[in-house]
Amino acid sequence: MSGLAWTSAPAPALAGDIAVPGDKSISHRAIMLAALAQGPSQIDGFLEGEDTRATARIFADLGVRIETPSASRRVVHGVGLHGLREAAQPLDCGNSGTGMRLLCGVLAGQAFGSSLVGDESLSRRPMRRVTEPLIAMGAQIQAQEGGVPPLRIAGGHRLRGIHYTTPVASAQVKSALLLAGLYADGETEVREPHPTRDYTERMLAAFGWPIAFEPGRARLAGGRRLQATDVMVPADFSSAAFFLVAATIVPGSRLLLRAVGLNPRRTGLLRALRLMGANIREHAPRELGGEPVADLEVRHARLRGIDVPVELVPDMIDEFPALFIAAAVADGTTRVRGAAELRVKESDRLAVMATGLRRLGIAVEETPDGAAIAGGRLAGGAVDSAGDHRIAMSFAVAGAVAAGPVRIGDCANVATSFPGFVDLARAIGLAVAED
Ligand code: S3P
Repeated sequence: MSGLAWTSAPAPALAGDIAVPGDKSISHRAIMLAALAQGPSQIDGFLEGEDTRATARIFADLGVRIETPSASRRVVHGVGLHGLREAAQPLDCGNSGTGMRLLCGVLAGQAFGSSLVGDESLSRRPMRRVTEPLIAMGAQIQAQEGGVPPLRIAGGHRLRGIHYTTPVASAQVKSALLLAGLYADGETEVREPHPTRDYTERMLAAFGWPIAFEPGRARLAGGRRLQATDVMVPADFSSAAFFLVAATIVPGSRLLLRAVGLNPRRTGLLRALRLMGANIREHAPRELGGEPVADLEVRHARLRGIDVPVELVPDMIDEFPALFIAAAVADGTTRVRGAAELRVKESDRLAVMATGLRRLGIAVEETPDGAAIAGGRLAGGAVDSAGDHRIAMSFAVAGAVAAGPVRIGDCANVATSFPGFVDLARAIGLAVAED
């Protein structure tokens, strides 16, 4: 274990009325499209996380002026599709797969070359899923052996549109190809085996680029302009997920989470928790920046194990660490399958969650594409998050209902997606302490 460690001790009933930070996926895309648009765009609710700030820094390195008038607000002075300048140094995406994969699409279309680097975790993640179709479009990209970063993207290569079916359901791959498609001759069409989050499509439309899309399919043609527009970012469902699980499993809890983004491609966990017996109500449903949002009221409920419907998997792809904690305290067994993608996230989330839960006395059977978690009583103990932000936050939730304190190693990366998690967790009654 390395880096910052936390201890999460058993907690009494949780209560509060809180807002979690802005959506990570939308914040990345807002910076990118605003930078490529003509003129100033204001982004409100921008996630002040390391991942999204890395993306903003990269566009600054590429010559885009970005102001921060206040926290969670950016004014991006877009330079137009062809206004970026070659950076003097490699572009550092930090921990962010979204940043790196989407940037591949943008940078493949530039007149200049770029290098993309990332941290230790990102340097192990597969990039062929984006580089192969981009190369088929005419890009020239070199990866390291095994198709991992750092990447070198050559400039000055004319791109052709592509009609492509993604082998895995991945919004990152789809988005990279659509962004490259802005620069390509002709039409780019992406089809997916299961619909994934459609923020790139929605935001391209909001920035005035003609695009046809429906679940599982998106199509656009190159050679237009993006018009600057303001973006409102809703609260990130993936950050809300830890509190949804926490208030569900800690007896006596009641929590209100404000203005949470409820795009159906993100809310698989809500559906899975309800199948398990959770008590989560949606109040004041409305739109924010073109996205459905609502206030979520969650109360403690006894959970039962389920077979997670395989069609929910892409809609809750980032929420499995939190689901595993819910499953660990449910009555009966929860089975997950069709989730092999979890092995190539910020960590191998199936392996790291299984190891951690076993350390806390829960029987977990791991399979190549899922796991079976036998609900029981969580014991206290020490677990390693493997530097994975979502695993660290999930075990912080587990500590609230464990028989003794849970010590979690390697938590520094929580700042990639959820700065302020510890303060907010403590404000609602979780007993999380940083070393
Ligand atoms: C994201 C897509 C998902 C998700 C990631 C963010 C995005 O990855 O896991 O946290 O913003 O497009 P994949 O599309 O690779 O599944």
